[in-house]
Amino acid sequence: MITTTGLTKVYSARGREVTALDGVDLHVREGEVFGVIGQSGAGKSSLIRCVNLLERPTSGTVTVAGQDLTALAGRGRRASRDLRAARTRIGMVFQHFNLLSSRTVQDNVELPLEILGASGADRSRRARELLDLVGLADKAAAYPGQLSGGQKQRVGIARALAGDPKVLLSDEATSALDPETTRSILRLLRDLNRELGLTVLLITHEMDVVKSVCDSAALMRKGKIIESGTVSELLATPGSELTQELFPVGGEPSGPDRTVLDVTFHGETATRPVISRLSRTYNVDISILGAAMDTVGGRQIGRMRIELPGRYEDNVVPIGFLREQGLGIDVVDGGSGTAGPPAGVLPRTRAAGAVAK
Ligand SMILES: Nc1ncnc2c1ncn2[C@@H]1O[C@H](COP(=O)(O)OP(=O)(O)O)[C@@H](O)[C@H]1O
Ligand SMILES: [Mg+2]
Repeated sequence: MITTTGLTKVYSARGREVTALDGVDLHVREGEVFGVIGQSGAGKSSLIRCVNLLERPTSGTVTVAGQDLTALAGRGRRASRDLRAARTRIGMVFQHFNLLSSRTVQDNVELPLEILGASGADRSRRARELLDLVGLADKAAAYPGQLSGGQKQRVGIARALAGDPKVLLSDEATSALDPETTRSILRLLRDLNRELGLTVLLITHEMDVVKSVCDSAALMRKGKIIESGTVSELLATPGSELTQELFPVGGEPSGPDRTVLDVTFHGETATRPVISRLSRTYNVDISILGAAMDTVGGRQIGRMRIELPGRYEDNVVPIGFLREQGLGIDVVDGGSGTAGPPAGVLPRTRAAGAVAK
């Protein structure tokens, strides 16, 4: 639904060049909620602004709903008519809502419809429908200053939906909101995604946002996408930074000559008694150093840091057993002075085919 290839954005400010996007290949499928996460300055806002061509990419292409927007943009500074038409099919939600304080809620939602040239009666009817959709039918006559942050963002979302978009872009839409309001706004985005078949690309620096609504996610750093995939693909990727960030597990080895493993359970492996079977089959004592359990997209996900006695080379067979069970295994520590590869290298050695979907 949204594809970028080699997307690059270089800003020049006061003779200095800043590369905000450095060859970004992004692929967001139709009907999914896709989260882009990264620290401040990573290039997230630049990415989302290049997706609707509010910012002209320096190079690369952007395709939304089969239309090559970069080709529509033309050369001039002003957006072409075709680009403006394509943009009405892309809604945008902002962190600070960007509502007009002198206009009522109803009039704020009507604004994009005015620009689209809808008649007065149509605008009014459509705005009321949209306010109803976001749960604010009773606030049509209020002014933004009379609303809470969560209500303002609901107006922002209603306004973004005015052009009947196929795609909704959201730049830190919940960053100015408290946790409970954040949850209700995320639920609204999720409902709109399901009910309207809306594809949502959302930018956030909060892991909880990704965890609670996203089907897929990408991690950005220094203008590049470092990791990307569906949440279950990421969970099945050895050494995935996003997995470690989403489901952090801690715990230090209790002594030398111990093997420390991070085990990721997902899908049906989450409900099988794998650890007790391991212990019985190989007669090893297993210590649990840390664990995290959560539900993502209605599915149970667990990560556990476990410790086995002996070094990596003593545990090759039990580790193989765990991988055969379809669990994701990262070797965190192979024991001091071990002949096994050091941590950080090992996680990437997990055999292909051991990945459970
Ligand atoms: N209009 C601009 N002019 C110059 N530099 C910019 C501009 N917008 C963003 N940048 C720079 O580009 C980099 C990425 O910024 P941004 O896309 O806003 O990141 P994020 O949203 O992840 O915080 C930063 O180094 C930022 O200072
Ligand atoms: Mg930003």
